[in-house]
Amino acid sequence: MFRIGIIGCGRMAAKMIGSIKDLEEVEIVAVASRDKSRANKFVKQNCPEAKALGTYEQMTRQKDIDLVYIATPNTYHYENAIMCVKNHMNVLVEKPFAMNRQEADSIFSEAKNRGVFVCEAMWTSFMPLHLKMIEWIKSGKIGAVRYIQSNLGYDIEDVARVTDPALGGGAHLDLGVYPTNLAVSILGENLNPVSVFAHRYSTGVEKDVSCVLEVPGDGAMAVSFVTISTNTDKDGSVIGETGYIKIRNINDYEKIELYDHDGNLVEEIEREGLNSYAVEMKACIDAIHQGLIQCPQMPWHKTAYIASLNDRIRGMI
Ligand SMILES: NC(=O)c1ccc[n+]([C@@H]2O[C@H](COP(=O)([O-])OP(=O)(O)OC[C@H]3O[C@@H](n4cnc5c(N)ncnc54)[C@H](OP(=O)(O)O)[C@@H]3O)[C@@H](O)[C@H]2O)c1
Repeated sequence: MFRIGIIGCGRMAAKMIGSIKDLEEVEIVAVASRDKSRANKFVKQNCPEAKALGTYEQMTRQKDIDLVYIATPNTYHYENAIMCVKNHMNVLVEKPFAMNRQEADSIFSEAKNRGVFVCEAMWTSFMPLHLKMIEWIKSGKIGAVRYIQSNLGYDIEDVARVTDPALGGGAHLDLGVYPTNLAVSILGENLNPVSVFAHRYSTGVEKDVSCVLEVPGDGAMAVSFVTISTNTDKDGSVIGETGYIKIRNINDYEKIELYDHDGNLVEEIEREGLNSYAVEMKACIDAIHQGLIQCPQMPWHKTAYIASLNDRIRGMI
């Protein structure tokens, strides 16, 4: 049995529990909240067999936990992850992994010293349709990639976490990390943010962000638009010299379509199988069973690079 602990009793924690019910040989054994009564209520509603803990620190005293899933607001990921890693506990940390590159490097350094598994829950990187799309690109189906364009918007401005700077709110860290991950997955780890434009709320966090990332010298571009003020179609396109790929929902791939240079549909694949959070969790379980301390689908260098791009993009707003 693979034993999971959870830190933070919010929406994502509940969603993850509901999503991984289909995985065999997995159990939620402990859930930690800052408040014991909230932990009790959460456990009763979501995972009645788990132990309810009234502080996060108590998680480090639980025996035989194979992985702690950290589902707290962005500004808490660093301290929660470091606490677990220093206590030799494997962690899956919600996105954005950390508030900046320095925090990310520090977590990886502590994990490396102790041989502890760490992974950013950048779920798109694990999705079979994302991996298939990368395979299409690598095998030359659309030629050299010149442009990526994508949008991601949800009407979530009434969610307190999302507009609160103290919790790391704002459109870039909440949503912009997905187009950024898409760009890095395809164009690699040598991108320049050449243009960033955003509107802010009175709280100071971004309501929306448009961003252009460019491969220096080559000129390939990734253009994205994200917003926390309204729902968008969430679609993306990857345009190459000899064809293009359309992605239905860049945040939870539903379908990918391959077109040739003349716009003829060549192949289309729809999502099937496990839901995307279960796919991500299964990848972590498999990596840990293989004795790895990183997931090949979301290696540390990629998380660290995205953290430094986040720093540069947010620095330009
Ligand atoms: N991968 C995805 O698809 C996805 C989707 C949505 C969100 N996320 C990420 O998941 C993380 C959690 O998001 P969420 O939507 O679950 O947030 P949420 O509903 O607000 O829950 C966050 C939990 O963190 C804990 N917490 C610790 N310090 C807190 C503080 N100062 N203020 C408020 N809560 C605090 C609370 O649990 P206790 O009170 O029990 O301590 C709270 O319930 C974020 O990093 C977000 O970016 C990922």
